[in-house]
Amino acid sequence: MAFTAKILLLGSGELGREFVISAKRLGCQVIACDAYEGAPAMQVADGFEVFSMLDGERLRAAIEKHRPDFIVPEVEAIRTEVLAEVEAEGFCVVPSARATQMTMNRDAIREVAAVELGLRTSRYRYAESLDEVLAGAEHTGLPCVIKPVMSSSGKGQSTVRDATDLEKAWDYAVANMRGDRKRVIVEEFVAFDYEITLLTIRSREGVSFCPPIGHRQERGDYQESWQPTPMAPAAIAAAQDMARKVVDDLGGYGLFGVEFFVKGEEVIFSELSPRPHDTGMVTLISQNLSEFDLHARAILGLPVPEVVLHGASASAVILADRESGSFAYEGQAEALATPGAQVDLRIFAKPVTRPYRRMGVALALAEDTDTARRVAAEAAGKVRIVY
Ligand SMILES: Nc1ncnc2c1ncn2[C@@H]1O[C@H](COP(=O)(O)OP(=O)(O)O)[C@@H](O)[C@H]1O
Ligand SMILES: [Mg+2]
Repeated sequence: MAFTAKILLLGSGELGREFVISAKRLGCQVIACDAYEGAPAMQVADGFEVFSMLDGERLRAAIEKHRPDFIVPEVEAIRTEVLAEVEAEGFCVVPSARATQMTMNRDAIREVAAVELGLRTSRYRYAESLDEVLAGAEHTGLPCVIKPVMSSSGKGQSTVRDATDLEKAWDYAVANMRGDRKRVIVEEFVAFDYEITLLTIRSREGVSFCPPIGHRQERGDYQESWQPTPMAPAAIAAAQDMARKVVDDLGGYGLFGVEFFVKGEEVIFSELSPRPHDTGMVTLISQNLSEFDLHARAILGLPVPEVVLHGASASAVILADRESGSFAYEGQAEALATPGAQVDLRIFAKPVTRPYRRMGVALALAEDTDTARRVAAEAAGKVRIVY
């Protein structure tokens, strides 16, 4: 058997699964890793390893066992020190060990963006005690958003409108943070008009972009995304300019999901993922090459052509409403028959470990964005998780 490259995928969720499919189509061998057997990406990979990505010894052992051409993180929570060590030994970490380290810590990436690169961000302060939180909120003003520096999917994050709630927000952040650093970022609440993800590809040929993706978040997770989202040319240019600066600083090849808030004429950098972004699942229907295809191409050193948008598109999430060991999916046929747009589904086939867990997405391609959003939401609503 001959493969074009060997990839060790760290994290095997639904985004990893789509990436594996893209990489397999280009002839790669993929070993998918995650903390439990049967994870979505493992279902389509050549092999798998089960261990916690935060376990440095097991991570190193898997890298040494497989000696991959590319180590591709799918999640943020990884023992990134090991990635830095193996990169120094000659392994290729995607997009770079530095990118994984900087983006795992909100304070690290904020320093790069706001201080080193001088990008416009929300006002912020870091805090390691309640007193520092109070001082931070003085600096940002109220409302403010408090987030653990190490967390994702909105975990431990709260918006504080009244100073008497700052203590509760600090306690909540400390109770829900990852890692052992009791540190939060206190951010000015940006009353944005809308927020976007700018998928940015850094390849051998340079930096390129997908049309901006609009999205709506609830409880720290995205609920729906759409592409393109109407945006003034000057605002797109400003976002692209900031995204280019950040990805060039982080280095390496791959696709990045760069998040911005837009308020009036102003474009404010928020954060980024050095890998495909969940809101970017809309590209599974909207573009000739999905964000996963683009990530694979950039990593493998293959040409990254200009993206062709098939039309206005949207994705809407299918959520479980409770934790359960035993459940079934129902309603796929009705969902796929939703009129008004081309409809598709991605069903994740993974355990329901918590309420509101994302179990699938509905995708729609329509005449215009409003129709695509409406049809995607309707289709998502037809898929039921039954217990
Ligand atoms: N400073 C802020 N002002 C207003 N909304 C915010 C702010 N920070 C975060 N949010 C909202 O919370 C969502 C999740 O925050 P984010 O910083 O992206 O964390 P995560 O790493 O969990 O995605 C954002 O997409 C946005 O909707
Ligand atoms: Mg985010």
